[in-house]
Amino acid sequence: MNDKQNFISKMKGKTIRVFWYFFTKVPKLKTTLFRFYAWRIFEIVPYFKKLIYKFYDKFWYIELLIDNKDFDPSNYQIDKYSLEISRIKFAIHIRQTSLKHLSNIDSNWDFSENLTNIKDTNEYILLENHFLKKLRWKDIDVYSDFVKVLSTNKKVSGCSNEVEFLKYLDSLDEIFQNFDRIDINKDIAKIKVGIDRNGRFLVFDGLFIVSLLKLSDFKTAPVEVINRHPLWIKFSSDFLKFQSVHGELYQPLIHPDLSFESSYTDQRFLIIQENLAINNGTLLDIGANLAYFCHKFEDLGFNCYAVEIRPSNVHYMKKLRDIEGKKFKIINKSIFDLKEKLDFDIVLALNIFHHFLREKELYQNLIAFLGRLKLKTMYFQPHDPSENIMRNAYVNYDNEQFVRFIIKNSCLNKFELINKQSDGRSRPIYKIFK
Ligand SMILES: C[S@@+](CC[C@H](N)C(=O)[O-])C[C@H]1O[C@@H](n2cnc3c(N)ncnc32)[C@H](O)[C@@H]1O
Repeated sequence: MNDKQNFISKMKGKTIRVFWYFFTKVPKLKTTLFRFYAWRIFEIVPYFKKLIYKFYDKFWYIELLIDNKDFDPSNYQIDKYSLEISRIKFAIHIRQTSLKHLSNIDSNWDFSENLTNIKDTNEYILLENHFLKKLRWKDIDVYSDFVKVLSTNKKVSGCSNEVEFLKYLDSLDEIFQNFDRIDINKDIAKIKVGIDRNGRFLVFDGLFIVSLLKLSDFKTAPVEVINRHPLWIKFSSDFLKFQSVHGELYQPLIHPDLSFESSYTDQRFLIIQENLAINNGTLLDIGANLAYFCHKFEDLGFNCYAVEIRPSNVHYMKKLRDIEGKKFKIINKSIFDLKEKLDFDIVLALNIFHHFLREKELYQNLIAFLGRLKLKTMYFQPHDPSENIMRNAYVNYDNEQFVRFIIKNSCLNKFELINKQSDGRSRPIYKIFK
């Protein structure tokens, strides 16, 4: 970037910050305007709605320039939680004395340069040889490495000499032999972790415990996050800004460090999972939002496709997919423009089709789309017909009329109500099949 571009970009940021400052000074203005901006006026003047959507879709990232305390993730993120052991794959080799310093780490620090796969660490190798291969501590090669460290007056897991160290190892043995009687929250020291720029959890302290848990049948462990990489903090903060414009997150987030509130919880997935006829195949999620369902169904073994019209959702969807190392395909277009693949085992149409009842053109597009689609089962979540947003709709079906409309226009012919309401909202879920 040259000086001129730098100056322009700084001025843009400054102008938005000043505007934002005054904006937040008037009580309620922010909330009212967001609501107004997001929904209300759209419903009243259809042409304006299209225009604003177009503008927002193109320039949505402007909201990321806003700098405000409201979007400080430290106000929302919690530092102590229970974490799936399988999420902890790397350790960072730092001695305990450096931990204090590390919790104030500067932004240039790159964790990845100091990482070791947990299974390659001496701690894991020592425990694996003892627990699984039944070797005595002193007969394991890497044991001497720990003794060497102790002989230089450095501590190992809080132990200052070999006698203390052996005692500590025996206490781990005790836990390993009696793991079914262990209260993981009380009997095991908290593991201290950091989060790198890509959302990966890294062990800062407690490598022996993590190794022990990986070698036994524990699935989760209490951890304390003592450091977050600045780029991870930025990502979390951008997420909060994005969330604020949309009112509230619609779907829960998969990553444990992004525990922001959402309208829906895991309930819908669990209900659908209980009513699945197959355990793998292809799945299309229409209006995927942040692709929560693709994450969950990929875990079950499905080959998933997320179709989502809004570039802002797609931006975060991609990031969240990559953070979790998922493979599902993301298609950023209207479902009506989907040409490449129209043959699926399962289709999710959750809280989406009623949007197409609001205008004649969309209604006709929906009929044509249902006619083109080849599928075996659809999980369908309709709206509540008494909701305000449907007041001026072109058509407004009640739940069963809507299901019959889908059957009439698609290759499906049976249905079953699998749930009356979830997350306190009176929007049922139907399974529609052949
Ligand atoms: C109310 S949300 C429902 C999200 C998700 N299906 C769920 O129930 O958790 C509707 C989503 O559909 C997207 N959407 C709206 N019209 C669409 C279209 N024509 N094609 C694809 N996605 C669309 C919206 O951007 C939004 O993310």
